[in-house]
Amino acid sequence: MTLANRNMVTIDDLSRGEIEAVFSLADQMADSRDKQYGLCKGKIMASLFFEPSTRTRLSFETAMHRLGGSVITASDVGATSLSKGESIADMARVIGSYADIIVIRHPWEGAARVVADYAGVPVINAGDGGHEHPTQTLCDLYTIKKERQTIKGLRIALWGDLKYGRTVPSLVYALARFGATILFRPGPGLELPEHVMNKLGSEYTGRLERYANLNEKVKQRLFPLDAIYITPSKPHQLANIPSVSAQVELEEGVDVLYVTRLQMERLAAGEEGEELKRDYPVVDKKLLREREFEKTMVLHPLPRVNEMAREIDADPRSNYFKQAGLGVPIRMALLALLLGSQEAAITEDKEPFNRPGEHPLYRRGFGVRCANPRCVSVQKTEANYIKPEFKIVGRRPVTLRCAYCEHEVYPRYVASTDWHEGKLDSKKYHSADSHWSTKIKPENLIIFDSASDAKARGFKPGHYARADGEK
Ligand code: CP
Repeated sequence: MTLANRNMVTIDDLSRGEIEAVFSLADQMADSRDKQYGLCKGKIMASLFFEPSTRTRLSFETAMHRLGGSVITASDVGATSLSKGESIADMARVIGSYADIIVIRHPWEGAARVVADYAGVPVINAGDGGHEHPTQTLCDLYTIKKERQTIKGLRIALWGDLKYGRTVPSLVYALARFGATILFRPGPGLELPEHVMNKLGSEYTGRLERYANLNEKVKQRLFPLDAIYITPSKPHQLANIPSVSAQVELEEGVDVLYVTRLQMERLAAGEEGEELKRDYPVVDKKLLREREFEKTMVLHPLPRVNEMAREIDADPRSNYFKQAGLGVPIRMALLALLLGSQEAAITEDKEPFNRPGEHPLYRRGFGVRCANPRCVSVQKTEANYIKPEFKIVGRRPVTLRCAYCEHEVYPRYVASTDWHEGKLDSKKYHSADSHWSTKIKPENLIIFDSASDAKARGFKPGHYARADGEK
């Protein structure tokens, strides 16, 4: 099967079978590295890194050189015409006419998707703000598989900055699809964002237990958790009492500890970086002496700052430099597949949780915009051509997920294009948490963020329309 001309903007762009195919090809690439030279001869990769990078950029560029292809690069917005006000879409169109594949890192969430929409060549997301970093997840899963042969059933603890780290959402969704148990251990104030929790809890087959539902015995353990996600496969995991399964999981120890640094560069205005640094949990020799971590593999996407003591570098459980090294064969495999230089040997399995569910779309271009200030769709240079697009993921209250950055929006009012039985005097709008929100068919749904917006389009308040500001 071919993966030629596909994009990799989020980890969900590849099925589980396709991810396994990347791993098989990466094995081949690593085993016979020198024989791969020439596989992408004549192909050009555009390497656009508008945020700092050591591993991702240099491993992609190394991968393309090892395949015999060429690289063109831009690594500073100030040295490109983006700094003159050019849109990402125009840049993508132009670079798509120069290169055969584009790898992009950009601070705006959803930027890689815009590039993919306009480039006309395959696009790989090398990190878009705090949204996703799917090729890092390929490196993470590949490292785990190489060491443990499987991902299914493993207990994987995510440690540190779960709020701003972009490697975390990509990894969380992939682990859920591969059937792992996920233990969330954030630094104080750095919990997994609600929209990621909500997607994890509603789109995959596992069960998400929040801290508040766990019993005191679990809460008092040395290893303090915010939440646990369990894909049921063993009898205790099927227990209906959340704390029972969580407790057994903890007693069995942690297979992988995935450490992340505090993403200082993404803190919100007014957020106290010094406080977050002071309370940040550190992984050191003392922690790894605890029973839970006896057989734990320690991973880190790197770079590290102070969250992981250098004293554990020589510990055989530390695998993070190996993980970074595996970035080259993984990215060689991915480039060769998306450029069509190699076919993928895919065995699709029949297990559930292979892909998140489909949702109806809302894309009228008016009534609602993404509330995330880091979303590409609300940036000055982009907002005049990007039509807001949302997945309708909840009906009461109406909940929308931005198609670019995946943040959730809870709009205030709903109306219908069929004016409720076609009568003009029924051109009414209602609160988005009223029963009307479930009655209107998704294809007829109109959404308004304010009463004035609804009135400007000729709608009157219905019986179930609270005034703006009313609770
Ligand atoms: N892991 C990772 O993305 O590292 P870089 O920021 O150095 O690319």
